[in-house]
Amino acid sequence: MQSGSEGVNVKRILVLHGPNLNLLGTREPEIYGWLTLNDINELLHERAKTLGVDTIDFLQSNFEGELVEAIQKARGRYDFILLNAGALTHYSIALRDAIAAVPVPVIEVHLSNIHRREEFRRTSVIAPVVMGQICGFGVDSYIAALSIAVRKLQKDTK
Ligand code: DQA
Repeated sequence: MQSGSEGVNVKRILVLHGPNLNLLGTREPEIYGWLTLNDINELLHERAKTLGVDTIDFLQSNFEGELVEAIQKARGRYDFILLNAGALTHYSIALRDAIAAVPVPVIEVHLSNIHRREEFRRTSVIAPVVMGQICGFGVDSYIAALSIAVRKLQKDTK
């Protein structure tokens, strides 16, 4: 989605982290790694600067409704959403409906490879309404999603 004026492509990205991701660094580090959420956000912030992103904002919430509201409010304010919905990925129809309702492209991100874990994690109810899913690469899942979002936005200007 292009924004700004006179052909200037303003890139505004919202990163949403779902339940329990505030515990990263101490939460099952053998699965999720040792980086804290703050570390991840800082790495994304740095990378966003080198990629020429104008705005990158971050929100973590343990509450489904807060994430639904953040997606609703992203309309017209952001060009892309990177979403790690945590466990909500596997059952939140409310989140899925919010993504489907708002014309902001979403990339689904997971630190772990949800397809090689417990059976219940292999289903993502949001997967059918997102642009794509990146999982299994730790913090690099987020970094890859950011690079892809920026590439998509650059292509939109041409
Ligand atoms: C997660 C995977 C989910 O199954 C889990 O509930 C999370 C984190 C991930 O990033 O690997 O909270 O989304």
